[in-house]
Amino acid sequence: MTVNHQSILALGYTIIEDINIDLDYWIKQCYKYKNEVCIESKNRSSVGGYQSDSSIYKHPTFKSLTQFLNSALLKSNLTKDPTIKINNMWINISNYGHYNKIHTHQIFPQFFTEFSGILYLKVKENNGGLLSFKNPLDINMEYTHVPKNGQLVLFPSYLPHEVTVYLGKEDRISLSFNYNMYGTTTDHISNLKKNIK
Ligand SMILES: [Fe+2]
Repeated sequence: MTVNHQSILALGYTIIEDINIDLDYWIKQCYKYKNEVCIESKNRSSVGGYQSDSSIYKHPTFKSLTQFLNSALLKSNLTKDPTIKINNMWINISNYGHYNKIHTHQIFPQFFTEFSGILYLKVKENNGGLLSFKNPLDINMEYTHVPKNGQLVLFPSYLPHEVTVYLGKEDRISLSFNYNMYGTTTDHISNLKKNIK
């Protein structure tokens, strides 16, 4: 596993490469989930394509991948806090002309999201679909990342970003996820309520 911290616009994101996962297997699982479970996100940034609901981290199929991604965050040294874990994850499948509007993954105070990530399962270089990070203080200042197959990109959840229009003819497939403090949101909120009493 190779960890490469990038500093951009006084912010930063991290690229993790050489990860040992079977991309073809996970691509098949994404299609299987899409075809069999068939739940789409109601709150989506994507324009066109398929974006699953964000509960797939709980699905038995994706459990081992979720554990792997939890350990990848700790290995990246972005945090030493083992309580920070994925508590939402969703599938993105896009094709020609699809894109994602500018958004962040920070839904504070409801969700306490710390870090977000994208695992690229199938992308084509030189076909658009680039990840464009924006400076939260001036969204005209941007840095564009060119995704590669098998790459894991981690970034602070407050960092605005968009995906440029994809111009490939084959499906472009990625998994997006958020790492939240204290395991699950519901656990944390119930702990907060206990403390308030
Ligand atoms: Fe996003």
